[in-house]
Amino acid sequence: METELQWNLVLAVCASLVINIVAENNEGAHRKLSNIDYSGVISIDCGVNEAYTDKTTNLQYQADDFQFGEVYNVSSTYNFNYVSQIQKQLNTLRSFPCGKRNCYTMTPKQGKNQKYIIRAYFAYGNYDNKNKPPIFDLHLGVNFFKTINFTEADRVIRIEAIHFASTDTLHFCLVNIDQGVPFISMLELWPLDNYIYQTSSTLLTLDLLTRINLGASQDNNSFIRYTDDIYGRSWEVQNDYDTVSIKTASSIDLDKLFDPYKLPAEVLSTAVEKLKSDSLEFTLNYGTDSEYYVYLHFFDMKDRANKQNRILNIIINGFDDEANFTQPLTLSYWKPNSIILPVKQGQGIFKILIEATSDSDLPAMLNALEIYRVVPQSDSATQQEDVDAIWHIRDFYKIYSMNWQGDPCEPKNFTWEGVVCSDGDTPRIISLNLSSSKLSGGIDVTFSNLTHLETLDLSNNELTGEVPEFFAQLPRLKILNLSRNMLTGSIPESLKAKSSINSLQLSLDGNLCPYQTGSCKSNNPKFVIPLVASITTIVAVVFIIYIIVMVIRRLRQNGKVISSISVKDEPLKPTNPVFSYSEILIITNNFTTMLGKGGFGKVYLGTLECGKKVAVKKLSLPSAQGYKEFQSEAKLLMHVHHRNVVSLVGYCDEGETKALVYEYLSEGNLQQKLSDKNPNFLEWIQRLKIAMDAANGLDYLHNGCKPPVIHRDLKTSNILLDENMHAKISDFGVSKTFANDTDTYVTTYPAGTPGYVDPEFYCSGTLNKKSDVYSFGIILLELITGQPALRGTPENLSYIIPWVNNKLRTGNIEEIVDPRLQGKYNAASAWKFIGIAMSCLPQVPIHRPHIDHVASELKECLSLELSLERTVSNVRDSLAMSSGQIEFH
Ligand SMILES: *[C@@H]1O[C@H](CO)[C@@H](O)[C@H](O)[C@H]1NC(C)=O
Ligand SMILES: *[C@@H]1O[C@H](CO)[C@@H](O)[C@H](O)[C@H]1NC(C)=O
Ligand SMILES: *[C@@H]1O[C@H](CO)[C@@H](O)[C@H](O)[C@H]1NC(C)=O
Ligand SMILES: *[C@@H]1O[C@H](CO)[C@@H](O)[C@H](O)[C@H]1NC(C)=O
Ligand SMILES: *[C@@H]1O[C@H](CO)[C@@H](O)[C@H](O)[C@H]1NC(C)=O
Ligand SMILES: *[C@@H]1O[C@H](CO)[C@@H](O)[C@H](O)[C@H]1NC(C)=O
Ligand SMILES: *[C@@H]1O[C@H](CO)[C@@H](O)[C@H](O)[C@H]1NC(C)=O
Ligand SMILES: *[C@@H]1O[C@H](CO)[C@@H](O)[C@H](O)[C@H]1NC(C)=O
Repeated sequence: METELQWNLVLAVCASLVINIVAENNEGAHRKLSNIDYSGVISIDCGVNEAYTDKTTNLQYQADDFQFGEVYNVSSTYNFNYVSQIQKQLNTLRSFPCGKRNCYTMTPKQGKNQKYIIRAYFAYGNYDNKNKPPIFDLHLGVNFFKTINFTEADRVIRIEAIHFASTDTLHFCLVNIDQGVPFISMLELWPLDNYIYQTSSTLLTLDLLTRINLGASQDNNSFIRYTDDIYGRSWEVQNDYDTVSIKTASSIDLDKLFDPYKLPAEVLSTAVEKLKSDSLEFTLNYGTDSEYYVYLHFFDMKDRANKQNRILNIIINGFDDEANFTQPLTLSYWKPNSIILPVKQGQGIFKILIEATSDSDLPAMLNALEIYRVVPQSDSATQQEDVDAIWHIRDFYKIYSMNWQGDPCEPKNFTWEGVVCSDGDTPRIISLNLSSSKLSGGIDVTFSNLTHLETLDLSNNELTGEVPEFFAQLPRLKILNLSRNMLTGSIPESLKAKSSINSLQLSLDGNLCPYQTGSCKSNNPKFVIPLVASITTIVAVVFIIYIIVMVIRRLRQNGKVISSISVKDEPLKPTNPVFSYSEILIITNNFTTMLGKGGFGKVYLGTLECGKKVAVKKLSLPSAQGYKEFQSEAKLLMHVHHRNVVSLVGYCDEGETKALVYEYLSEGNLQQKLSDKNPNFLEWIQRLKIAMDAANGLDYLHNGCKPPVIHRDLKTSNILLDENMHAKISDFGVSKTFANDTDTYVTTYPAGTPGYVDPEFYCSGTLNKKSDVYSFGIILLELITGQPALRGTPENLSYIIPWVNNKLRTGNIEEIVDPRLQGKYNAASAWKFIGIAMSCLPQVPIHRPHIDHVASELKECLSLELSLERTVSNVRDSLAMSSGQIEFH
């Protein structure tokens, strides 16, 4: 094992001897260092799923139980028993088939401005049964460290770096260079004393090339590691040169030596010595032109009975110039001495000579040596505050699907997706784009730590809560895009001020302000809707409210800047959902723009103070009695929040005046979209998506809310569409909610809408979840066929189900699917879609599926369609590739 080193010790040929200088104590009874704090050591056994304490070393091994990569065992024919201390750790590994760069990020408790040994092991062990170990790169922090290239499949490669951390977080990254899948078996990090392994600049990173314990017996100490070495350094044994091996059998009490390098007793106790006055000579041959550091470790065990001295010259040479490195070095008895030799050379070969001076009584000797290469540093890490903040944001919103690993800015071709950094010595994050990243929850206060941000785009997510004040404190922020979230409340004055003088471009359209926080999941006992209304209620209920018929004009939603919205004299109370009549007047600008007319009132376009557009339904009933429970029911419905359900933003309940304030959706309702009067008919894929959205919304009402909300009046005109053509269910619970037992003034209509009503209702008089599923099935048929649920005159009505059933008998799909699509759909997904619709429509409710089942079927149907489309576009791509447009990602 060990690093791929080519080094040789060139010496004259002569037998090697072992001389025991002192042999008084028990051999090997070395006293280990006491009082060493190992709590800063991080040891990761890659590929195991839980932490454990290693029985032989007592070291705590952590599991790398994270989102990235895959876990393997090495092939059972491999047995790394020659590295017995870590044999168990090498048996499992983690490989990274996905992503260019995968990083282990360690946060040692010592933090920054601290020197560490970072050590990793790679034992391929034919884990993938390909018998071809990969070649991949390692990055340490933001710099390339080295390439892992196995010469033989059964080798174990160890890499080791001495690294001065200038940041609190240390990134160790495996980079795929398209020559196999990177993997790692074990990773560890040991804090070092800062004053050892000195280099010309503290910031240098050293790459271990070799570390040799001289004079030891191959059999015994071939693999020294922790616990012998308190830094876990392993020492190779080399003893087959023309030297004399010397060895002390005296006990070495490390606590009394005060050796800063804390060499293990096993290393100190052996050395090589020259006979006579020959020089010890090492010729080191490394292929690359680089800068090196050599550390020579001396520990003179020769008792000075007759005041002998040992004085050594250390000479390094390149090819031509020979130079004494230091003043002659005088070794004292039983005193460790480590010498640092910087080596700059051009040819890749250098020689080290250790020779006794003429006035030295004793010959040249050496106990151990280490050789390191200086790792070139090209990039510097991102400012620590920015790193901490962006990592916190990553974990807060669980952003794991993107390449958000390692340093956010460096190296340049691995800068995180959506992140833009400044150039310069210490990069700063200046732009962050997390648009459409499925962020949910509140706006994390940590955004305020990214003090150099100029642009922040959080649009099109599911962020809730209020717009925080701290954005105004970001000195460089010029663009803040919070549009299309579910934010509430009013805009902080300071932000308003900034945007009014145009120092900040603030976008907030497409939010839900103001509304009360809370959700269906919070089961508030104060408001309880009976699950199923009694027959008397149903008979009494006659409300078929056509709502929010939104057409008129398609309002431009994109890039709306808040500073352009006129602020009314009388500001709204931000989170209060209760509107006064005068507020309603302001919101709707005295009911200027009517969006449509429903059964119990007209619907007007309104704009809240925060810029959010709303649809205000002014209820105009002959008797206020019907609203006995108006307020409590309205409050309950305000707790219903889901991206596929239209939100009730607030209400007005002032004497006789009652109004409901809804989220406004710019694309109107599904009925209009499917109508033959609409020139822009919906494409097949849009229909599938709308069906899936609506099913998800209904699933939420049925299964996400406590008590469940039964819609009772599902129909295409109650499915509204936003500017992205996402569907939302509206008017849920309305027929029940806004009626009570005394509402007897209209008795001519059943609950629900003709064409959509569960046939069972006519027998039982009750509506339940399965009734909603039936109505939903009708909607699906309308989506497929483009036909309305009911056609013709009252005398000669044509229902959609018998029509479809008729066509199904012929088995000709083209006759069923909307002819306007002109065959632009895949037959497989069309058949599945029809199947799902029909499954909702049995006469007997018990035979109908639950809506969550329908939703998952629709999801499959959509992915079927998408995969079929992809097949088509793949054919297109391969055509494009053959004309030379290949790009790798
Ligand atoms: C690896 O081996 C252990 C036991 O030897 C076994 O429990 C585990 O499931 C194996 N893991 C894999 C990924 O094969
Ligand atoms: C890997 O090692 C082989 C054999 O030593 C060599 O030919 C090849 O260029 C190396 N590859 C890389 C990427 O270093
Ligand atoms: C190797 O170690 C054993 C005890 O562990 C000892 O008896 C033996 O002398 C050692 N051999 C050498 C060559 O040091
Ligand atoms: C190194 O120093 C010694 C004296 O200590 C001197 O004799 C020798 O010539 C020097 N060697 C070189 C290469 O300068
Ligand atoms: C953000 O900055 C504050 C104050 O400087 C600091 O206390 C906090 O730890 C920082 N948060 C993160 C996640 O870095
Ligand atoms: C990253 O960029 C450097 C040069 O800027 C290039 O040498 C290296 O191959 C690139 N790495 C990847 C993985 O694209
Ligand atoms: C953020 O990225 C989206 C595409 O992912 C893009 O449409 C939008 O313009 C970007 N925002 C900014 C501020 O650059
Ligand atoms: C805000 O985000 C939306 C959606 O990504 C985008 O269309 C719009 O241009 C963005 N506005 C600004 C000011 O970046």
